[in-house]
Amino acid sequence: MIGHRGAPGYRPEHTLASYRLALAQGADAVEPDLVLTADGVAVLRHESDLTRTTDIAVRADFADRPWRVEALTLAELKSLRATERWPARRPGSARFDGYFEVATLDELLLLLADESRRRGRRVGLNAELKSCELPAEAQRLEDTVLASLRDHGLDHVHAGVVLQSFDPLSVRRLRERTPLPLVQLVEGAGSPLLTPAGLAEVATYADVLALDVPALLARPGLVGPAHRAGLGVLAYTVRHDDPDGPAAVAGRVQALVEAGVDGLFSDQPDQTLAVCAAY
Ligand code: G3P
Ligand code: CA
Repeated sequence: MIGHRGAPGYRPEHTLASYRLALAQGADAVEPDLVLTADGVAVLRHESDLTRTTDIAVRADFADRPWRVEALTLAELKSLRATERWPARRPGSARFDGYFEVATLDELLLLLADESRRRGRRVGLNAELKSCELPAEAQRLEDTVLASLRDHGLDHVHAGVVLQSFDPLSVRRLRERTPLPLVQLVEGAGSPLLTPAGLAEVATYADVLALDVPALLARPGLVGPAHRAGLGVLAYTVRHDDPDGPAAVAGRVQALVEAGVDGLFSDQPDQTLAVCAAY
């Protein structure tokens, strides 16, 4: 059970409060998305545009600044407040608009170290390096993330850390530089990476395949061949506030478990765990 952006069904995504709640709800691991600031700090954000998840659009002091992570320093980002992406759908989370800061990878690593000590075993980290337009930017992000993991003593196979990206070139570069398990993220049931040849190729540089829920539900028979190619399979993302309703979501979770997936990313880890426990 991987808390996707923490537990964003209940707290604004990617805030430390969201990650704390995911861990309190029993998530085995959490998944941050990583983007670099102008001064080269890895922060937890899904996209560089800050308008949907912070108060930047209503801040007079940012009126003449670009509203993008890579254009702002960490100090500037820290002066913003996190907000709920989907306030109508998640009023319980929107209640916390303005309470929390944008968080850094280093802050999350310290939080996970505390939780690992409390549990007496490692809490997992599935860190996604967000795709960049230019290879040089992607490599700068890779350098920064690996340096941070090394600083925290986490660049080894027993650290509970997994690195993931949609960009095969980034995953391949990481393979050359770290012993950490790597996840190739794939979107869509028709991806060429899901053909027998594609799976065999992915298995040469990655350890796990993560595929979106609709694609896995459309092709549950993919899990067996992926496993036989030597790849674990994860499904993203379970959302219990889906407009289709809770019974439909529970049915999807059960279908994914029956298909044999090795893990689920969820926006509401407590509800996904409850479905799995009742099943
Ligand atoms: O890693 C699975 C999932 O997080 C990828 O999609 O857009 O939520 O980062 P996204
Ligand atoms: Ca992600």
